[in-house]
Amino acid sequence: MNLEAWIAHCAPVLQGNQIESQGHRYTRPAPHVYEYQWLWDSCFHAITYRWFDLEMAKAELLSLVAGQLQAGPDAGMIPHMLYWKDDGAALWGRAHSSIITQPPLVSVAARLVYERDPDRTFLEKLYPALMAYHEWFDRRRDPDGDQLVSLIHPWESGWDASPRWDTPMKLSNPTDDESKAARHALVKQLIAHDCDAQALAESDSYHVESVEYNAIRAADLEALAFIAAELGERGQRWQTRAQQIQAAARAKFIMPKGIYDLSGLDEMPLKTPSAAPFILLFGGCVDSLQAAELVEQLTGPGFWTTYPVPTTPSNDPAFDPGHYWRGNVWPSVNWLIYQGLRRYGYQAEAQYLATRNRELVETSGFHEYFNPISGEGYGPDQQSWATIILDIVATESAL
Ligand code: GLC
Repeated sequence: MNLEAWIAHCAPVLQGNQIESQGHRYTRPAPHVYEYQWLWDSCFHAITYRWFDLEMAKAELLSLVAGQLQAGPDAGMIPHMLYWKDDGAALWGRAHSSIITQPPLVSVAARLVYERDPDRTFLEKLYPALMAYHEWFDRRRDPDGDQLVSLIHPWESGWDASPRWDTPMKLSNPTDDESKAARHALVKQLIAHDCDAQALAESDSYHVESVEYNAIRAADLEALAFIAAELGERGQRWQTRAQQIQAAARAKFIMPKGIYDLSGLDEMPLKTPSAAPFILLFGGCVDSLQAAELVEQLTGPGFWTTYPVPTTPSNDPAFDPGHYWRGNVWPSVNWLIYQGLRRYGYQAEAQYLATRNRELVETSGFHEYFNPISGEGYGPDQQSWATIILDIVATESAL
């Protein structure tokens, strides 16, 4: 299929999942299963829309920032779920949104949309919200002041049930139901501590400085610096923040024997292997030698499966490809890895990843996630973010 054919293939999925509620237009991750607006999903949707519907790309991001919290200790946070319809109070104790966030890709998405349509008014509308979001991270999520932000719930990573989180969630080989119950119980803990990262860490709750999350944040700050410069504002402070995070990630996550998330106030390394370190490439967090080592690992046993990249390597005891986030291929994660490979000049590897991912969607459809060996699709079959393959196809066809 050429680019035009891919647009014709992907557009109906996103269009079918669009919804308008209370004057906001957004795209549901999947009808019936995921009815609300999710933060990083919407960023991926906008990145895909930019190839065929720029107005919707902008509407998707504007709707997202319209949900930004305006008051209270978490003013500036963009919640990971926005309930434009219905009510989230039963779970979160708050009607209109969740009380946690998700990977910060809003500036990245805004920049990519703007590159297809240099509409300064769009950036002007977003810029104050994008700044407030990153200021919120600094104010609320870096209690030890080491430049690396902490997650207070696995849902914030987007990798809900990853084996990476078993130890900090005090789980051992959990079933899907056990792991889900633990995530729900943790929400009560967050409410009890007003989502204060320091207080949560002191009470031995889940508190993790995550490798890929901080890398994503560095990339988002770089995009924010670009947006500021386009608007004639001073972008340097955002660029400096990005560089500080990149340096901190290099210094603290990369250890002699591996690259690890850090858990708790004592920063215990979490040694469960995962694809998270590859996302350091996306965030520009490694030097060229470290990049070469990462690419060698990525293309070696465990990760370079028939359909790469499983989030848990296939040679790890925790690998369980049929279970949610425990060894499957996720379109969101693969897009980040693909972009990271390109950033560091690994075009052949990026192209191979693009090809295998294209085949995955061609044969299995627009699923939420996939089996890295058989290619079988899991979850909804009209999942919006599976269309991110269009951005990869478009990027490849421009080369
Ligand atoms: C699941 C995924 C999460 C995603 C959400 C909506 O919870 O784990 O990453 O944002 O679904 O698609």
